[in-house]
Amino acid sequence: MVISQPQQKAKIGPTKLLINNEWVESSSGKRFETINPATGEVICDVAQADALDVDKAVIAARTAFTSGDWPQMSATKRGELLYKLADLIEKNIEELARLETLDNGKPLKDSLNADLPLTIACYRYYAGWADKVQGKTIPINGPYFCYTRHEPVGVVGQIIPWNFPLLMQAWKLAPALAMGNTLVLKTAEQTPLSAFRLGELVMEAGFPPGVVNILSGYGPTAGAAISYHNDIDKVAFTGSTEVGHLIMEASAKSNLKRVTLELGGKSPNIVFADADMDAAVEGSHFALFFNQGQCCCAGSRLFVEEKCYDEFVAKSVERAKRRMVGDPFIERVEQGPQVDQEQFNKVMSYIESGQQDGAQMLCGGSRVGDRGYFIAPTVFADVQDHMKIAQEEIFGPVMSIIKFKDIDELVKRANNSIYGLAAGVWTQDVNKAHTIAHRLRAGTVWVNCYDVFDAAAPFGGFKQSGIGRELGEYGLQQYTEIKTVTIKM
Ligand code: NAI
Ligand code: MG
Repeated sequence: MVISQPQQKAKIGPTKLLINNEWVESSSGKRFETINPATGEVICDVAQADALDVDKAVIAARTAFTSGDWPQMSATKRGELLYKLADLIEKNIEELARLETLDNGKPLKDSLNADLPLTIACYRYYAGWADKVQGKTIPINGPYFCYTRHEPVGVVGQIIPWNFPLLMQAWKLAPALAMGNTLVLKTAEQTPLSAFRLGELVMEAGFPPGVVNILSGYGPTAGAAISYHNDIDKVAFTGSTEVGHLIMEASAKSNLKRVTLELGGKSPNIVFADADMDAAVEGSHFALFFNQGQCCCAGSRLFVEEKCYDEFVAKSVERAKRRMVGDPFIERVEQGPQVDQEQFNKVMSYIESGQQDGAQMLCGGSRVGDRGYFIAPTVFADVQDHMKIAQEEIFGPVMSIIKFKDIDELVKRANNSIYGLAAGVWTQDVNKAHTIAHRLRAGTVWVNCYDVFDAAAPFGGFKQSGIGRELGEYGLQQYTEIKTVTIKM
């Protein structure tokens, strides 16, 4: 294991696969490196799972689902284990936040104040649900007694991305475990470390062997093995729309496992001239630049009403220029590096395409520093709907500001996307706020705010932004099968 950080900024936890509550090397013995995106240097290497390891993890998960302590355990006890896990995360919050920042590059301040508290809240929220999900009794015709049971789906495969590693793990694990499923989770190849540390806490909390299995590995090998596996009952995926298509295809070609998807977006964020302008500028800045722009719900099509367009653009450029970019461990830094070289290149190529298409680049547009994957906060004005930067997910610190005049036309333009994940509306007119919120084809609409997440509020996409919802009571349905029992009286 190579630790290239001169002063180690985070304690590295386990780097092997967690299968059946044991840390094991991959069957092939292969390992791969995870990089510190702030420096481009190797942090350490981790075990590289492939299809054989997925098989082993699925066997452990299936065994745990059908025999041993887990299927016997009361729902209340499952809830207690989840509460205990939440407490352990809280106890280790600083260590986990540092590890997340080291591996992902996000500012430590954000790991500490956003990722970790939301992760803990998610486990507590679903801990509470564990013993509160129940079926119905149904008055059917004839001399029968009919009722439903909400049962776990079974062995669940979960594939997560690198932009919020711990939080995405919580969104997947917490509802699945609350409902009594067992699972095989694969982390993103860019950010395997925090999930493994969490695996230690899962064991410390007392989850029986095989209930939670955690693998690091690549998408086309380990990820594909999960999505094609014939003994996995459901797969939950967060990542690109492109891979979302592959996951559905894999389900269709294997055992028709249930599929839930949380995919990309190109979310419209709409600013009306009657909005509190300073709040709209700051909120839209946050909506786009938070997490280095690496948010599925980033407000990346920023529609601004003609009447306030010039003022809004000027203020947004001024704000973007003030955005502090640098070492994510430094307290006042607002923006760290992109997660890896590939994402860096992708974002830079979108910046180039915006310039070629004739949008006006008013700030940023270049690399910051000479190591790591830092990109200066970039603002384009005069962006037209047909331009690539207005249609495709950039996933980086690049703001595209688009002008609008007429409301009906605006709604059409805002909805004219293959995506439908989220949207924002900034106005002081309550009628306009509700009307626009209802007309937008998106899974979440924020009014006079953005990126407000709560474990109780469902999240997911219309159209090609996904299938199903995570979080809230709705999120539980995706981890239960309904069984109808009918008894002749
Ligand atoms: P990706 O969709 O390839 O990766 C996400 C997860 O899927 C990772 O765990 C990866 O290993 C896995 N995966 C990749 N190929 C797979 C396959 N064939 N079968 C099963 N699993 C597979 O996303 P990537 O390449 O990291 O980023 C590409 C773009 O996707 C980003 O630039 C961004 O636009 C979007 N994205 C969206 C995210 C979201 O939160 N909705 C998160 C990450 C990326
Ligand atoms: Mg990919």
